Amino acid sequence: MVGNITLTMIKPTAVKKGFIGPILAKIAEGGFKIVAMKFTRLSLEQAQKFYEVHKERPFYGELTEFMSSGPIVAAVLEKDNAVQAYREYIGATDPAKAAEGTIRALYGTNLGENAVHGSDSDENAHIESYFFFSELERF
Ligand code: CMP
Repeated sequence: MVGNITLTMIKPTAVKKGFIGPILAKIAEGGFKIVAMKFTRLSLEQAQKFYEVHKERPFYGELTEFMSSGPIVAAVLEKDNAVQAYREYIGATDPAKAAEGTIRALYGTNLGENAVHGSDSDENAHIESYFFFSELERF
């Protein structure tokens, strides 16, 4: 079964550059409904837990330090086939390779500081959503 939610984070550099508003507008424009959202900051330990699947990767240290370096916006988005639809909508991981008009092409800085995160599977969308939000925080 194809899921209907995905988890996104607006990453620290995009927050610092003032892109929360434009990115949320773009998310709405793409037909994604925000069902949960918070402005928060991850500790290094929380970032390490969130990105645990990448712990063997060479960029794990850099990634988790960056993701805990400043505030972020986390949100659960709802749409049919949300994971795949959002991945297409945000563009390739590297903003330099992301299709024109995608969120990462518009607001990303580089491979690590690529404006937004998007879940890569329905299973991870659920795990990541529960990482940030309880049932009481979803509407
Ligand atoms: P994200 O969608 O948050 O999921 C994992 C993140 O790891 C990814 O976006 C990138 O920002 C980051 N990432 C992937 N490859 C590299 C890399 N080679 N160097 C630094 N960060 C990377």
